[in-house]
Amino acid sequence: MKIWISAIVLYLVASCGGPVQDTASLQAQVDSLQRRVENSYRPGLGEFMSGIQVHHAKLWFAGKAGNWGLADFETKEIQEAIDDINLYCTDRPEVASLPMIKAPLDSIYEAIHNKSTVQFKSGFLLLTNTCNNCHRATKHEFNVIQIPVTPPFTNQIFEKQPK
Ligand code: HEC
Repeated sequence: MKIWISAIVLYLVASCGGPVQDTASLQAQVDSLQRRVENSYRPGLGEFMSGIQVHHAKLWFAGKAGNWGLADFETKEIQEAIDDINLYCTDRPEVASLPMIKAPLDSIYEAIHNKSTVQFKSGFLLLTNTCNNCHRATKHEFNVIQIPVTPPFTNQIFEKQPK
């Protein structure tokens, strides 16, 4: 009886397992997948920064207009880009300076929560100064950010619209 059960189990294991791949071919597959991962496209720090630049500008016009929904959205976009930098730009030593942006973003969230234009403007100034402080700290002081003068796009309305 025992022998029969063992034989059935053996048969099932052998038939479910299919052909056993040899280690060399598995290693070749792992190597090729690793090459594909290493060669896959990843945005660089400069690209994330260009995205942040756009959201920084939009945030100003949204907040200045008291459009808190849009201001909240743009602040979150900056936050997302920061999170992505932490995820994708681990090879850049500059990411060590990123945490300095947390306090200014928090003060902007607070201004949005309080629907306070005065608080928003001081939070935005703090944010902009922090962009420049980090550029100086990371030897990119030639990238100077200021409070935007004109809206970055003419095909988007920054004022809150009636429902
Ligand atoms: C980690 C600190 C740090 C913070 C915080 C930071 N930056 Fe940067 N930024 C950099 C570094 C480093 C570069 C250079 C990236 C590269 O090598 O391409 C850069 C580049 C830039 C560039 C030039 C991008 C290009 O390719 O033309 C812009 C624009 C920019 N940052 C905007 C901002 C804005 C706006 C903020 C604030 C909301 C900000 N940055 C906050 C470190 C920072």
